[in-house]
Amino acid sequence: MEPFVFERIGHQALRERIVTAETAASWIEDGMTLGLSGFTRAGDAKAVPTALIERAKRQPLKVDVYTGASLGSDIDKMMAEAGIVRKRLPFQADAAMRRKINERELLFVDQHLSHTAELVRSGVLKPIDYAIVEAVSITEDGMIIPTTSVGNSSIFVEKARRVIVELNVAQPKALYGFHDIYEVGKQGERAPIPLTKVDDRIGTIGIPVDLEKIAGIVVTNQTDSPSTIVPPDAETAAIARHLIEFLRREVAAGRLSERLAPIQAGIGSVANAVLYGLLDSEFCDLEVYSEVLQDAMFDLLDAGKVRFASGCSITLSENKMKQVYHNLEAYRGKLVLRPQEISNHPELIRRLGLISINTALEADIYGNVNSTHVRGTQMMNGIGGSGDFARHARLTIFVTKSSAKHGAISSIVPFVSHVDHTEHDVDVIITEHGYADLRGLAPVERAPLIIEHCAHPDYRPQLRDYFAEALKRGGHTPHVLEQALSWHIRYEQFGTMREETYQLQ
Ligand code: COA
Repeated sequence: MEPFVFERIGHQALRERIVTAETAASWIEDGMTLGLSGFTRAGDAKAVPTALIERAKRQPLKVDVYTGASLGSDIDKMMAEAGIVRKRLPFQADAAMRRKINERELLFVDQHLSHTAELVRSGVLKPIDYAIVEAVSITEDGMIIPTTSVGNSSIFVEKARRVIVELNVAQPKALYGFHDIYEVGKQGERAPIPLTKVDDRIGTIGIPVDLEKIAGIVVTNQTDSPSTIVPPDAETAAIARHLIEFLRREVAAGRLSERLAPIQAGIGSVANAVLYGLLDSEFCDLEVYSEVLQDAMFDLLDAGKVRFASGCSITLSENKMKQVYHNLEAYRGKLVLRPQEISNHPELIRRLGLISINTALEADIYGNVNSTHVRGTQMMNGIGGSGDFARHARLTIFVTKSSAKHGAISSIVPFVSHVDHTEHDVDVIITEHGYADLRGLAPVERAPLIIEHCAHPDYRPQLRDYFAEALKRGGHTPHVLEQALSWHIRYEQFGTMREETYQLQ
């Protein structure tokens, strides 16, 4: 083995445990449960799952797969297509896996990302046979140093029967020192989490592991998959402008300072574009307490707009990855990666008073938000951390374009077809047309605001008609129940939510 590999295994005895990915995959038996590292395409176990997929071509098997969040390197795609997954949780974002989930060829548990660790710890979930985690190194005192994400790796390592480490030499050694691993302990017996500022370090630099549990170390040399986000467009830039206008009003009202409050921003193109909007704003010296750190975050750090960013993973486009990983030292002291149980912890979200910005697929006229299910039935990606943040943040903001599929779908509907975030947890809705600040408003006050400020102008007359008819029917939250989901049904039947097309039929 090359000396540069040994350099990364500080503990002498462990050097004997290097095996091939094929050997490690051969240990996995039908019906087992795997806990894989990986969060939004970052820091995922790559080689052993790939070898397992190959092996399954000769010896079919099914396993349950738990992760931090979505995987890269097409692992979710390949696992889904090979049919090796019985149950998957807590999040995925792959088109092939999405198809299999919606065809019910595999079971998917769509879970708040802060909950998985708790369910593993308490034994509610099936125990983990193998934790397979990517590492940049293993220290002399036997700690696993994760790579570009922490996710659920620490709880997987703690609770799994055996551990396989994927030592990835393509991941920069300089990641050493960027992690802060804290174990909360058993529920009912734990102390308050001692984190009061976004840059507090409360744990260890790596994942402590019982060395006896390490079954093997697989040496790999493969970078993370780049993110798939698309650059900002006119609509997402407009959403960013409305967000900034809203934040300015909060500053003017004395509820926030120009440093705002620690920011959390969700996954995807819209959330990333919205963060870019902060680059040109007057807000400065910002702090971030988020889950995934995307491209925009590094531009904000580079521009000195963000002082410190705490996250759980780093997911970057190809160019940004080269730039950031060749220059990691510049971010030392400005960045920390934590387990998702800590990055998404309700206690900390409430204590720090976050401004939370996540993306909706659709919202209704009263402020309920659907982030996961297209037409109420078809799983998109999953709730991810959006619920962890939405329920507990100081300010819960949902952004969305006002329409989808070239205007055939209105993102503002009479009644959402699936509820992830109830009206009680949603403070502000923003589209490219404006924002609706729903705080302190009764349902009948919210609806006109959402319709007039957020809905696409083409859909406003239909929404006004619906609301007017609903008001006649009465009630605290007025609805025309037989029409509440008619827009989704119309789209299914006629390929558009527009009423005139419907009436022509
Ligand atoms: N009905 C049907 N499809 C819709 C839709 C609606 N109301 N609104 C959007 N879409 C489609 C878009 O057309 C697009 O489809 P395409 O991939 O075929 O082009 C897709 O959904 C993604 O929408 P886009 O506008 O590009 O947004 P995005 O990349 O920012 O993703 C979510 C939006 C909601 C899918 C994504 O943010 C998500 O999965 N959120 C849930 C998890 C979460 O919030 N995690 C954050 C916690 S950190």
